Amino acid sequence: MSQTPIASKTIKKPSRCPLNLNKIEFESEKQKRAVEDLVQEFTVTPKLLIDIKNNFKEAMNKGLAKDGQTIAMIPSYVVGRLDGTEVGSYLALDVGGTNLRVVSVHLEGSGHITTHQTKYKIDESLKVGEAKALFDFIAVCVDSFLDEHSIRVRGDTEFELGFTFSFPVLQTSINRGTLISWTKGFNAAGMVGKDPVAFLQDAFNRRHLPVRVAALVNDTVGTLLAHAYNHPDTVMGVILGTGCNGAYVEEIPKIGKWTGERNAETMIINMEFGAFDKERSVLPLTMFDNRLDRLSVNAGKQLFEKMIAGMYLGEIARGVLVNLIDRRLLFGGQISPELNQMWTFETAYMSTIEADSTPTLSSTRDILESTLSFTHTSLVDRQIVKCVVELIGKRAARLSASALSAVLEHTGSWKQKSSIGIDGSLFEHYPSFDSDIMDGLVEVFGDEVRKNVSIGLAQDGSGVGAALCALLATKYSAGK
Ligand code: BGC
Repeated sequence: MSQTPIASKTIKKPSRCPLNLNKIEFESEKQKRAVEDLVQEFTVTPKLLIDIKNNFKEAMNKGLAKDGQTIAMIPSYVVGRLDGTEVGSYLALDVGGTNLRVVSVHLEGSGHITTHQTKYKIDESLKVGEAKALFDFIAVCVDSFLDEHSIRVRGDTEFELGFTFSFPVLQTSINRGTLISWTKGFNAAGMVGKDPVAFLQDAFNRRHLPVRVAALVNDTVGTLLAHAYNHPDTVMGVILGTGCNGAYVEEIPKIGKWTGERNAETMIINMEFGAFDKERSVLPLTMFDNRLDRLSVNAGKQLFEKMIAGMYLGEIARGVLVNLIDRRLLFGGQISPELNQMWTFETAYMSTIEADSTPTLSSTRDILESTLSFTHTSLVDRQIVKCVVELIGKRAARLSASALSAVLEHTGSWKQKSSIGIDGSLFEHYPSFDSDIMDGLVEVFGDEVRKNVSIGLAQDGSGVGAALCALLATKYSAGK
């Protein structure tokens, strides 16, 4: 059980312990040059960061004007605001990260929220099987959650559920929408173009579960709502985890394509920014990014996400290491069977390697020798691995900064006190990701932004946010 207020928490994690390239005693000129080339390729210079920000702002404007643009800029139908006084109990279901989560959320008024949650692992085969099987599994999880937490209903009362479905969905109302495409390794058949709420409600009905899907919400929108519950100056909700994306508060007159009601001033927009630059006009894609993209289940899509998100960073690093090995510039040209397999170099290893401050890089050695079964690694090998990891981690944070600064500039909110709530394992655990982002914002706006904009961890925001959204939806439909 967790007692909130869900305030932004101070992140306790080790900082990056950067390597000094000049101190590496390279074994050959060729090896040194190869590392210098990687530094060139993976560095997002201040100029490039600003070019990407400008390009991103243009893409936002295109998405606001018309449907079907690269950044989809999807109106979320969330117009209301909460002030922390609301009371009630809701269920939330979060599908789209590494785990599926079912959460019961009790809003106690005065900004207090109590949550109980259980995580369930989604088998890889379900992610790429038939959609009906995936949703039946989800219904089983919700069923067992109700049992496990002895949640009983009297009479024919139904639970209201907020459904966080963290994929690009074109919403047509607060609890309706159509899936545009799958991302993050999901590719269940028969769902693109269909309504995920209908699939979920049907699966609940097949099991006779007393649960009604009251709201459909993207995790970024949920994160924004949850963060705003305690930080009324919240302008953005961001996910930097398995995938990446952001939502922000937009003035309705600026949403050119919006044809719905105009009785509110603002609406939250789910940007779907992981799809940015499918035209490949500004992103510094390397051959390693191209290779990863080609081998993914959604080739040609989500290029920005594939350079930033936790699902992909380890695999990019693995690609670079294998290339150095093939050129006999690392580990004496020998590969271990583990590193020879796709997806074995986890992004979590990168966090450990980044934080490794020992003179002999002993945690890096543990990962390479104990986990990845290299029989012997030299100090130079480990230094090169650390350098590769740093380049990829820092690039991800600086690309995130370009997206955040585009939104802050578009809304003008960098000039006033504003909060950004960020959830996701990458932001939470990756050393110095938060400070790298802030450094990027300072490059764009100058030091003033440090005083005005606070970036905080909005842990579990997507679960609580979905419940808040269910509450808003019921309030809204009751005409209150
Ligand atoms: C999805 C977004 C989601 C993000 C973070 C992306 O792959 O398209 O809808 O918000 O991941 O979970």
